[in-house]
Amino acid sequence: MKIRLDKFLSLTGAGTRSEVKKIIRKGSVTVNGEPVRDAGTIIDTQKDPVQYDGRYLTYEEHVYYMLNKPAGYVSATRDSRQKTVLELVPECGRRELFPAGRLDMDTEGLLLITDDGKLAHRLLSPSHHVDKTYLAYVSGFVTKEDIAAFHEGIDIGDEKRTLPAVLQVISAGEPGEKPESEVSVTIHEGRFHQIKRMFEARGKEVRYLKRIRMGPLVLDKNLKTGECRALTGEELSALMHADCDKTDHELYEEQF
Ligand code: URA
Repeated sequence: MKIRLDKFLSLTGAGTRSEVKKIIRKGSVTVNGEPVRDAGTIIDTQKDPVQYDGRYLTYEEHVYYMLNKPAGYVSATRDSRQKTVLELVPECGRRELFPAGRLDMDTEGLLLITDDGKLAHRLLSPSHHVDKTYLAYVSGFVTKEDIAAFHEGIDIGDEKRTLPAVLQVISAGEPGEKPESEVSVTIHEGRFHQIKRMFEARGKEVRYLKRIRMGPLVLDKNLKTGECRALTGEELSALMHADCDKTDHELYEEQF
């Protein structure tokens, strides 16, 4: 990729755009072994080795973070009133990062933050949605009829019913004043408030929602709420090769 020297330096983390301009002017940066003082010099990231104070700088075209989103943050790049998920990411400001997908303000869990528009499109476009699994606490007792209805697809007031989803009961509380079920749900789409609306259509309320899987990417159990980390090479390669066309029928069949 061809890129201005100052932009390259700031993307590698050497400093802000104005800081790296000063660094370049001082002559501390070499391209192909020669000091370069013009911040606007165009370099080829594949061919031109760049050194700063004797250290080679490497450039990743894109970055990929797994965030364990806390409640209270909006899944947007900017918002005039609410805190955004990007505020939880260290590289925020240096790259044009965005959340690949949305979680409601009160939903927690796995969110991919990247600046790779192509990958995000592949993972999220309506024709290619990857499976997403959520953990939820739901009012009342989730029944076999609920499980079957999720599999059939539910009318949530949209033009089309939802695609088959896999609902599994993890535990159901003792009958009492406020019975509650702990469930996992896997959906193959990403409609607005989808899980909440699916349960609402069954007369139940989602009291807590957390995404724990998106395609091959599983939320790291060691990542505390509000923390993020770069994806490992293995995770990234699995995401790049994610089979976005697979439906969750197989998962349902395994259950019955
Ligand atoms: N479904 C919802 O209702 N909310 C989310 O945040 C994600 C899926």
